[in-house]
Amino acid sequence: MIQELVVGSDMYTEELMDHFQNPRNVGKMEEADGIGEIGNPGCGDVTTIYIKVRDDRIDEIKYQTFGCAAAIATGSMLTEMAKGKTLNEARSITKENVAHELGGLPEAKMHCSNLAAGGLHAAIEDYQGKRKK
Ligand code: FES
Repeated sequence: MIQELVVGSDMYTEELMDHFQNPRNVGKMEEADGIGEIGNPGCGDVTTIYIKVRDDRIDEIKYQTFGCAAAIATGSMLTEMAKGKTLNEARSITKENVAHELGGLPEAKMHCSNLAAGGLHAAIEDYQGKRKK
């Protein structure tokens, strides 16, 4: 971790370092309407996204990650981007969008942003699946 921080301060943008050091919307959500968990078999990291939905919009969103600096920052940015969006708008947020908002990610770290975006998509599916029952 220390090694990544030292290396990270060179390879990560200021925006990313800010979201890594001051992550927004971190934590577990009690009684979430939808929960999505995505892991990366390559590195073993996992991100969980929790959403509350009201009037077809993401009313509240939180995340937890057991991941690297990029996973922490992309989870933070993604939750900021998704808050208040309709489910359709939120579903169209890609890992590339999240990386772009952070000022870019090193190529080797692009997969990390998939945890956040994929977790959100899974949380929306979970919510919609529960509603059909
Ligand atoms: Fe695993 Fe970044 S190295 S999410």
